[in-house]
Amino acid sequence: MIFLIVNGPNLNLLGKREPEIYGTESLNDINVWLQFQVQSKGDKLQFFQSNHEGAIIDYLQGQMGVADGAVINPGALTHYSYALRDTIQAMDFPVVEVHLSDIHNREPFRRESVITEVCVKQISGKGKAGYLEAVNLLQGR
Ligand code: DQA
Repeated sequence: MIFLIVNGPNLNLLGKREPEIYGTESLNDINVWLQFQVQSKGDKLQFFQSNHEGAIIDYLQGQMGVADGAVINPGALTHYSYALRDTIQAMDFPVVEVHLSDIHNREPFRRESVITEVCVKQISGKGKAGYLEAVNLLQGR
């Protein structure tokens, strides 16, 4: 099985960006950890990060008919990108929404996610463990 691990705007700054909220590990640290956690099952993880909405949309569209599922942390796109929502809805594979921080206990604008309805599940506030929970969910489907 091929699972996509997609991260949106500013997640390339993990480790340097507000470490009290997002932790001290880099995105690469998290991806390496995640790969290690799932490798025994023989599934392939494919990692993608972009600061550009359109690049994320192009990437997901290119995975139709190829990937078996996706985990996405869309960063701030979560809260307003109807374009990303439409893309997720159009996909022929399930998508799980992940947030490192607990978006329901932060600023009011973060509480709304416009993609939750088109995702299998939202996992929020569990740090990097949220990505693993999401992959495990996809593996169990
Ligand atoms: C985030 C939460 C978003 O509100 C924020 O814009 C991010 C990261 C998280 O992982 O907690 O960039 O998705």
